[in-house]
Amino acid sequence: MRLIEWIDARFPATKFVKAHLSEYYAPRNFNFWYYFGFLALIILILQIVTGIFLTMHYKPDTALAFASVEYIMRDVPWGWLIRYLHSTGASAFFVVIYLHMFRGILYGSYKEPRELVWIFGMLIYLTLMAEAFMGYLLPWGQMSFWGAQVIISLFGAIPYIGEGLALWIRGDFVVADATLNRFFAFHVIALPLVLLALVVAHITALHEVGSNNPDGVDIKKTKDEQGIPLDGIAFHPYYSSKDLVGLIVFLFIFSLILFYMPEFGGWFLEKDNFIPANPLQTPEHIVPLWYFTPFYAILRAVPDKLFGVMAMGGAIVVLFLIPWLDRSPVRSIRYRGPLFRIALSVFTISFLALGYLGTQPATGLYTSLAQFFSVLYFSFFILMPIYTSLDKDQPVPERVTGK
Ligand code: HEM
Repeated sequence: MRLIEWIDARFPATKFVKAHLSEYYAPRNFNFWYYFGFLALIILILQIVTGIFLTMHYKPDTALAFASVEYIMRDVPWGWLIRYLHSTGASAFFVVIYLHMFRGILYGSYKEPRELVWIFGMLIYLTLMAEAFMGYLLPWGQMSFWGAQVIISLFGAIPYIGEGLALWIRGDFVVADATLNRFFAFHVIALPLVLLALVVAHITALHEVGSNNPDGVDIKKTKDEQGIPLDGIAFHPYYSSKDLVGLIVFLFIFSLILFYMPEFGGWFLEKDNFIPANPLQTPEHIVPLWYFTPFYAILRAVPDKLFGVMAMGGAIVVLFLIPWLDRSPVRSIRYRGPLFRIALSVFTISFLALGYLGTQPATGLYTSLAQFFSVLYFSFFILMPIYTSLDKDQPVPERVTGK
């Protein structure tokens, strides 16, 4: 104990642990949906650690990259495990993040005073998308090359500066060695640093205002004599131990996929990416990985390239705005009226449908359906100020519900 006292006199170790763990009072009614922030943190660490080991054997050179990944898979001791942990981890990251974001919408966690928690979250999401996109170029397979080619060429649709901008991003007239080198630099160091900084900001903002909960009740309104919320329990040991249960269930499912179906039928690692990049041969269908396909479907639903790019960008930008689009005084779906419930259901179906349509060829009926669901996707946001104001919300209880 003398050591801790010695440290505390020079560094706020105990103060930090108290503020963020043993004396951080979280609502006592957290449910299943509240596992995903913790799981996102675990996967972030997993990606960084496995990424470091991959970097020890990977070669960011168009002549060597593909073979270096095969070398990791076949010759590096446990290399296959490290690589599959990283590739399956990337998809798991997005599964967890999408569920985490959906929880935010279910319980109105973006509403006052948590707007900045949401904004930092959205910045994390954007950075994560860039991180995944750049990482996908590194194995230098057919889909790495053509995916990057398609997405970077989208910048070419911007009037006046577009072509120059695309050239500047690639560092060459086509996706080439210069592109691979800079994507490597961004993927292994620049973006992970940004991600870590944003996660610190995200959790700092959350701990400043306190967590929301499935009832959307403000627990800070009812405190005991010591100023501890009556409906709050210390994060450590109560939620630190509960989160371990979630972690074990997650690891069980994750291991099943990792060891028995790491490609997940082409959803986590595409078939075409086991063929080395060939700039002279375009694959029949260029499809991004599943976590980008809802936005890819919106892009292709619009016949004009520039408007398609704007629609795709707009689909992400609107997510930043929901704290201000939502006019309901009620946070949680439990006490919302029918209009919000219907709107959220339609939105969820549209997002999943767009995700599927983005994996299919952009022809005939598929395009019409993508247009239909894109309109529904945007309606959720554009009409939000109207239906959340008109909705017949129910009274919110004073205290959190449940035993
Ligand atoms: C690396 C990615 C992320 C990490 C590590 C992370 C971490 C966390 C953690 C540990 C919590 C508290 C526990 C919980 O409520 O589950 C939390 C809460 C929250 N996060 Fe994230 N997060 C990430 C991404 C995001 C994204 C992309 C969004 C939304 C755009 C988001 C929005 C929120 C919100 C609104 C809360 C407060 C929830 C509430 O109190 O009800 N987060 N996050």
